[in-house]
Amino acid sequence: MTSSGALEELIEESFTSAFNHHAAGRLDAAEEDYRLILAMEEQHAPAQHYLGVLLHQCGRHEEGLALMHEAARNAPPDADWCNDLGNVLFACGRFEEAAPAYEQALDLRAADAQLWTNLAAARRALGQTDAAIAAGKQALQYDPHCLAALHQLAELYAQLGDRMQSSRYQCMAFVLPPHEGKSRELLAISFYFLGQMEQAAEVCRQWLLEEPGHPIASHMFAAYAGLPSDTVPRDYIVQRFDDYADHFDSNLVTHLDYRGPQVLEAMLQAGLADAAPVNVLDAGCGTGLCAPVLAPYAQALEGIDLSPNMLRHAARHAQYTALAEADAVEWMRAHPARYGLVAACDVLIYCGQLASFFGAAVQALQEGGHLIFTVELAEEERATGYYLHASGRFRHQRSYVQQCLQEAGLAMVLVREESLRVEMQQPVPGLVVLARR
Ligand SMILES: C[S@@+](CC[C@H](N)C(=O)[O-])C[C@H]1O[C@@H](n2cnc3c(N)ncnc32)[C@H](O)[C@@H]1O
Repeated sequence: MTSSGALEELIEESFTSAFNHHAAGRLDAAEEDYRLILAMEEQHAPAQHYLGVLLHQCGRHEEGLALMHEAARNAPPDADWCNDLGNVLFACGRFEEAAPAYEQALDLRAADAQLWTNLAAARRALGQTDAAIAAGKQALQYDPHCLAALHQLAELYAQLGDRMQSSRYQCMAFVLPPHEGKSRELLAISFYFLGQMEQAAEVCRQWLLEEPGHPIASHMFAAYAGLPSDTVPRDYIVQRFDDYADHFDSNLVTHLDYRGPQVLEAMLQAGLADAAPVNVLDAGCGTGLCAPVLAPYAQALEGIDLSPNMLRHAARHAQYTALAEADAVEWMRAHPARYGLVAACDVLIYCGQLASFFGAAVQALQEGGHLIFTVELAEEERATGYYLHASGRFRHQRSYVQQCLQEAGLAMVLVREESLRVEMQQPVPGLVVLARR
């Protein structure tokens, strides 16, 4: 072997050794080997490049970057090296230099989702939101499952205030395997949000196999699978709202633009402005958001709810003269002719058939007393007059509501189409009804 052949072999061995030390995190040993190579061949580009990376890792950023730039001058352009350079520049906060480094990497290897994601991150750091989004979407073209790109896009859209798109990308990231260890409820909701009902139902079906009879799994399985249903099981309501209670007000009001109390207030002003105060029942009072709206009409204001945690929050509203943990229908049946006004705001969405609720309300109301309530409006006609929507809430046909009121002996006084909440950026159409016994 010629001496130059032996030298080449020694350099190659040293490089392998350096690289192995480097990959294993033995930075001192790796640095020694890289320097040995550079002592043998001053312009050895790979040793320069990786020693540059190593020096950056050791906090010697400027020295490292200088070596990496020199390596780039000494070797043909390489996508991975450009990416490494971009990463080091990014880590040093030099975003305006990192972006072109990633762009150069992409000139060499366009079909690389990770490179596009890195470019998205650099552009985002530079405040170039639209260009960052474009890069993130390119990443997904090459790898629709690129988790980093999905997270990047979710954050970019959140920054733009586009909650819908942000949630869509968050959901796309969340439903990616592995599913082990993830909340099955959130998985199912994420599939639902993405319009993938079969997968949402499948998550609940699997959940039921593991926890037969689980109230949330069984109710949501019916909702996602589009199964016929008449009512929401009581244990679903209790568990759902007990879990919700601590975040209910902020979730409902800020994220869903919940307008129940305002809608109720406007209807009460229109229909009962001059009425004398009466005993009022807030049926399904929740955290008590309607208490201030009902109080002006009340000589006594009682709140009942199935969820102890919701009631705990309602107790902060001094307007309630009594609060009780009870089922609305049972309570009303047990308190005949006690109330001049019964309110059920955003509660009948948990009742499919309305006959029981209206019948019980008639019992609880004094002659001439009023029932005010809201429902979500059905978009599809069904023989039943209502159906369980994939949201887990019932939707009712206007004609069905009218028919049930009539059959219960309640006269419709006022009815308005109002949306109480926004879901997936779409207002959910609803009805607010004032009826008299
Ligand atoms: C969406 S929240 C609305 C709360 C409140 N009315 C408001 O407008 O903010 C629905 C509430 O109804 C309660 N609820 C549902 N079905 C019920 C029933 N059959 N009896 C009593 N409370 C019920 C739930 O526990 C929950 O607190």
